[in-house]
Amino acid sequence: MTHTTLGSTGIPVGDVTLGTSALGEGTAPGSAEEAAAVAAAVDLLTGPFPLIDTSNNYGNGRSEAVLGLALAEVGPALATARIATKVDRDGRTGAFDRDRVMRSYEESLTRLGVDRVEILHLHDPYSITFEQAAEPGGALEGMRELRETGAVDVIGIAAGPIALMTRYVETGLFDVVLSHNRFTLVDRSAEALFAEARRRGMGVFNAAPFGAGILAKGSASRPSYGYNDASPELMAWIARAEQVCADHGVPLAAAALHFSLRSELVDSTIVGIASSRRLVQLRELRDTEIPDALWPDLDALGPAPSPLPERDAEESRPLL
Ligand SMILES: NC(=O)c1ccc[n+]([C@@H]2O[C@H](COP(=O)([O-])OP(=O)(O)OC[C@H]3O[C@@H](n4cnc5c(N)ncnc54)[C@H](OP(=O)(O)O)[C@@H]3O)[C@@H](O)[C@H]2O)c1
Repeated sequence: MTHTTLGSTGIPVGDVTLGTSALGEGTAPGSAEEAAAVAAAVDLLTGPFPLIDTSNNYGNGRSEAVLGLALAEVGPALATARIATKVDRDGRTGAFDRDRVMRSYEESLTRLGVDRVEILHLHDPYSITFEQAAEPGGALEGMRELRETGAVDVIGIAAGPIALMTRYVETGLFDVVLSHNRFTLVDRSAEALFAEARRRGMGVFNAAPFGAGILAKGSASRPSYGYNDASPELMAWIARAEQVCADHGVPLAAAALHFSLRSELVDSTIVGIASSRRLVQLRELRDTEIPDALWPDLDALGPAPSPLPERDAEESRPLL
């Protein structure tokens, strides 16, 4: 595990962070499924990767609840990983103002069974406009307050659409940026955002290096990229990339992970892991030697057909 520092925050992170958006999904309290998810979470908490990424709304709170149960089982002293989380809009009303930020953080702490986290992100602020977030009593006020009062050490903006993300980064308020599915083998649209964040000394998390799965499972799997259907043209490009990787004796998944790991723009790459089996595989992919000659051969394929344009427009539109 290579340790890095999150931008100029001084906070240590590993080059890989474990993402838990699917952990505990659909599990009922007290069920056998919950027990299996907690066992996986114990492995995440006691493994070699020092940070776990979750959110108030992952699995309607079940990701945090399962992590909280696992943390209670392991005991904070024996956990080798820390937990970062995110504040979310009210799931019923869509409200996402200063007061909702405070409530969301309290809910997260209760589920996790901790009294603070170091890193807290404002997550997917799509139910409000940027102007609403920035007005007095808005979500940005809540985030600033949490940092100023020492309730958290650093605050981040975590979302998708690059134009919207750029506006949040340009406020100068945030210490950290987290983008997803937009700095991968097939989509590099977050590159300028990350460069701007770097210029400002911000920490950079690059989430979803597998495009939510396809770049790990390969071109024969369900045609989906970044939670949307993938076009036949994109699938054909991925099949060609897979062949180039095979010619170099490297799995596509390893190339997809190392594309992000090798970038100087990225402090830590967040990979979605919801089972102990995937954790073992992640360690293997992380340790895979990638021949230098792979990268120019992948570049020679030319840019992949853009996977996410409509999604950006959709996510930029306020939901309420
Ligand atoms: N707005 C935000 O803040 C935001 C948005 C997106 C993501 N994130 C964070 O980033 C994390 C990663 O995103 P993501 O999970 O959507 O995408 P991802 O990391 O690109 O892909 C995760 C998927 O890849 C599959 N996978 C992992 N290792 C594999 C392997 N060795 N072989 C085959 N398949 C493998 C898993 O499938 P299986 O289900 O089969 O295990 C998993 O569902 C999330 O969990 C979350 O923490 C944050």
